[in-house]
Amino acid sequence: MRVLLQDQLLNRDEVAIDIEDRGYQFGDGVYEVMRVYEGQLFTINEHLERLARSADQIRMKLPLRLDVLKERLIELVSENSVQNGAVYVQVSRGVSLRNHSFPGDKVTPVLIAYPLPGKKPAQEQQNGVQVNLVDDMRWLRCDIKSLNLLWNVMAKQEALDKGTYEALLHRDGTITEGSSTNFYAVKDGTVYTHPANNLILNGITRMKIIELCSENGIPFMEKELYINERTSFDEAFISSTTIEIVPVTKIEEDVIGEGKPGEVTKRLQELFRKITP
Ligand SMILES: Cc1ncc(COP(=O)(O)O)c(C=O)c1O
Repeated sequence: MRVLLQDQLLNRDEVAIDIEDRGYQFGDGVYEVMRVYEGQLFTINEHLERLARSADQIRMKLPLRLDVLKERLIELVSENSVQNGAVYVQVSRGVSLRNHSFPGDKVTPVLIAYPLPGKKPAQEQQNGVQVNLVDDMRWLRCDIKSLNLLWNVMAKQEALDKGTYEALLHRDGTITEGSSTNFYAVKDGTVYTHPANNLILNGITRMKIIELCSENGIPFMEKELYINERTSFDEAFISSTTIEIVPVTKIEEDVIGEGKPGEVTKRLQELFRKITP
């Protein structure tokens, strides 16, 4: 496997991460996961912009200019002959003696990127999934795509242990998002999702879904959804770069709508399929 380290493509065995890398020790860094369809990085500009924003929010400078990074990522996909899959990009604040305070300008952030397998969850996209409710105990800057994913990891494992597909996080009675997905409900033909504020990650797939709604006359509104109104949802679904759009047919033991993927969800899946190669 070829791996990008800073601006160089190397073989995997030539890349070593230092024990004092702050990403490793503090989760002090940011990341992105991008999708590759037929050898092309999908929505790469949006992902790069979000990476730059996340870095800026944690007061970290990316070690490469975005246009250079874009070129290197395209080379990475090509050198690894990725046809359909994903690319993981991570930037940590760099290597320095373990100490909470920033290491200063002499320390360069460490960027790595490499391909990940990315297979559509075809079965789940078609049949829908069950999710379970988990308290949203994350910090209050979920808009930053930070390496600190401990509660997301805990929540996802709880979901899997309960035999469900995803953890639906809730804070003060409000559904925020999934452990690695955004959440939507449909009521009377309108698609609702949590406002893009500090309590959720503004997903790139979410932004595409909003565009698709507006271009195709599907009513859409950013609005808080409450866990205790879940039985009134006609439809529900989750989205992310890796899963695209997956219908939610059950929240805990409560059946959503008719217990099968709804019409609006299926229409959005179809529209999404048309914008991906
Ligand atoms: C917490 C969280 N919310 C939402 C998403 C969906 O974002 P995107 O559509 O950009 O993949 C992710 C993706 O990993 C995530 O981790």
